[in-house]
Amino acid sequence: MQRVFLETYGCQMNVADSETMAGVLVRAGLTLVDRPEDADAVLLNTCAIREHAEQRVLGRLGEFAHLKLTRPDLVVGVAGCMAQHLRQRLIGRSRVLDLVVGPDGYRHLPDLLRRAAGEPVAHVRLDRDETYGDLEPRRTPGVRAWVTVQRGCDKFCTYCVVPFTRGRERSLPLDDLVRQVEGAVRDGFREVVFLGQTVNSYRHGAHDFADLLRAANDVPGLARVRFTSPHPSDMSERVIAAIAESPRVCKHVHLPLQSASDTMLKAMNRTYTILQYRAVVARLRAAMPGLGLSTDIIVGFPGETPEDFAATARYLEETRFDSAFLFKYSARPDTRAYQWPETVDEAEKGRRLQALIDLQHRVSGELNDAALGREVEVLVESVARRNPAQLYGKSDEFRTVVFPNDGTAPGTLRRVRVVGATPITLFGEPIDAPRPLTLTLGAAPFRAPSAPATTPVAPIAG
Ligand code: SAH
Ligand code: SF4
Ligand code: F3S
Repeated sequence: MQRVFLETYGCQMNVADSETMAGVLVRAGLTLVDRPEDADAVLLNTCAIREHAEQRVLGRLGEFAHLKLTRPDLVVGVAGCMAQHLRQRLIGRSRVLDLVVGPDGYRHLPDLLRRAAGEPVAHVRLDRDETYGDLEPRRTPGVRAWVTVQRGCDKFCTYCVVPFTRGRERSLPLDDLVRQVEGAVRDGFREVVFLGQTVNSYRHGAHDFADLLRAANDVPGLARVRFTSPHPSDMSERVIAAIAESPRVCKHVHLPLQSASDTMLKAMNRTYTILQYRAVVARLRAAMPGLGLSTDIIVGFPGETPEDFAATARYLEETRFDSAFLFKYSARPDTRAYQWPETVDEAEKGRRLQALIDLQHRVSGELNDAALGREVEVLVESVARRNPAQLYGKSDEFRTVVFPNDGTAPGTLRRVRVVGATPITLFGEPIDAPRPLTLTLGAAPFRAPSAPATTPVAPIAG
């Protein structure tokens, strides 16, 4: 057992977990490889949020079954939320699988992999105390570093599998997190994204999420701080003030709504009414004019009537989110809603989804058109994937911006005037000369990352 191929599905928390796993494996003397063909063990870090996410992994396991015909010694492992969700069911059902390891078992990976080479192994105990706070992640080089500040979830939304796959909510100590941010800056990262399922309910000892944001804002050499996903019910005045008053904390909030019908919100156990959500948005926008705002919506939840759906569509129209992640409800075993009869058939779910996609596309287009002529600050991430003559980055409000490639290094902040727009991209022209970062920040010298980041921050989604 020497070479491991690790593949990641699901949300940014899984991306961050894979970096923790990579750290554990490399420290134990194992090597990470880029192709399953070159590996002694393949490990899939999986997602269970919707049925489709699990089907993708089952499809991939089929490919590994094929590979195993010619390589019978190949160890095949499934990690992450789907592993925790299906547990023994997964190991019993499949002759391909040698290892099933849930989100709280990664510290033991080297040992588990070695044992799995002999006989099938499962480690699916959730551990209330596991935070991996003492483990050094092996981050993919780039501009943006993921920092998990909280694991698990205690909200138990009735559709959601996460409290079952990741267990109870627990936060990491603030000092440890600040050290992680400082370490990321030393390694050349320019932006930190704090991750948690309800990240603004972060609490450790006397510290809350507002304290964490302010502490990160003060780390020298860091250009930007982002976070995902906050829960509307945990959006305190202190947190809003910390975002508003911290210049390096980006003025973008991804605030999952799910539905604008109170009947649905109650059935989903979202713990707020649409009036309360509206009030949070009003407070955020009053504190930060021009704030970027995005959301998540589920259509076709059990009991969703055409009127409930129309309320959601109306709310999107009225609130004008910059973007929205739109999902068809997917019934998940173990959740409360799984026991409820589905009342919206697949075709109708598809129609509702498409109606919201069209609506949001139009709104995003209108908002981007309205940005024409404005100045935005872009943190350059990489050369644009589709056109090397362009650079790619995000504005503070998390809009995608491309502008002519003048050789600016990834990690540089540039001021850009918007000269063109589509619903998903702004096209810009730089209005400043590229400046060395040491001058812009007057802080720790910046070392350009060795490879540009290609993973855009998206909200936590499968
Ligand atoms: N913790 C985050 C969301 C995590 S899951 C939060 O509460 O904001 C990301 C998104 O997936 C959710 O916001 C929801 O819109 C969607 N989702 C979760 N479970 C789902 C399900 N069973 N079917 C469809 N979409 C789901
Ligand atoms: Fe927790 Fe978010 Fe899932 Fe609700 S949707 S249970 S808040 S992870
Ligand atoms: Fe798990 Fe993230 Fe998917 S928490 S279920 S990998 S969305």
